[in-house]
Amino acid sequence: MQRYRLSVWIEGFVLKIFATLIRAVLAAGVLTALGALSACGDSVPNMGPADSTIPSGPAGQLINQGRLIATDTIQMLKGHVGNGLRCSSCHLNAGTLPNGGAWVRVQARDEQALTARINRCLVQSMNGKPLAADAPPMQALRAYIGWLGTANLKPEQESGARGFGPIDATLTPDSARGAALYTKRCAHCHGDHGEGTLEQKAYGGGYKYPPLWGENAYSAASEMNQLSMAAAFAKNNMPRTRTHALTAQQALDVASYFIAQPHPAAAASEP
Ligand code: HEC
Ligand code: HEC
Repeated sequence: MQRYRLSVWIEGFVLKIFATLIRAVLAAGVLTALGALSACGDSVPNMGPADSTIPSGPAGQLINQGRLIATDTIQMLKGHVGNGLRCSSCHLNAGTLPNGGAWVRVQARDEQALTARINRCLVQSMNGKPLAADAPPMQALRAYIGWLGTANLKPEQESGARGFGPIDATLTPDSARGAALYTKRCAHCHGDHGEGTLEQKAYGGGYKYPPLWGENAYSAASEMNQLSMAAAFAKNNMPRTRTHALTAQQALDVASYFIAQPHPAAAASEP
């Protein structure tokens, strides 16, 4: 009896140690996986200031509102967007990604210039209607972009803080090669006919991957429809899962292809 109890006790003890070990191994595995995931996120640096620098009260609310408008543009700016895009379709990660159309060092210096600059994108790139300078969503966008501008950058980060990065525009693009590349490297997200991929829950426009041409794409007047801009964007940001995956030649080829596809006419610049 004694002996039996002892062996049960030892067995229980061994089992406990074993279970603890397994748990530890599992936990370590999960932690490593999580670490890998967050490291993956970290490999795309956010250039903006730390969230902790957002002031409390109405000023901070306006900044947060502006960020929400950048990512949920269609829902937040009802009636002002005429296509399937959001600001962060082109200004990636709400304007915080280096060479991804970041808003960290915008050229527009004063309120009036920034208002005009935002409205230019609303009309030409979102095919929509401009916002009045004192409309709350316009104030929110300016507040958010103004706050991004307070980021402290290292000197080597400055060049990525606006625009889409460098591209050697002296190369001659070949749109036939671009078409082949599009089919191979872009179509599984942006659609065989540039129509994008719908996903109802994704965001206001219902697009998981935005359209590149056709009725819901940016207008012909959009700066994204300029060869060097489109090529720089593609080279430095696409495919979305692998940055810098295209050579300058490939980026120019594919850009020359998609900008030559049909785009809607720009919306009227007056409401
Ligand atoms: C179809 C792509 C596209 C969309 C959508 C878009 N933009 Fe732009 N935006 C551009 C391009 C291209 C530029 C020019 C970048 C450059 O000059 O290097 C630009 C420039 C800007 C600038 C000036 C940046 C600077 O560095 O001076 C601001 C501010 C801006 N956009 C705001 C917005 C806002 C706000 C929205 C949403 C309401 C928006 N954009 C939607 C493509 C887009
Ligand atoms: C893995 C999916 C994926 C692939 C592959 C991909 N993209 Fe994109 N692309 C995206 C996403 C997502 C966005 C918008 C980012 C956002 O909304 O956060 C985007 C945005 C764009 C935009 C600006 C927005 C618009 O619709 O005009 C262009 C231009 C673009 N991609 C071109 C390309 C080209 C060219 C290729 C192939 C070389 C490519 N993409 C491959 C996912 C992808």
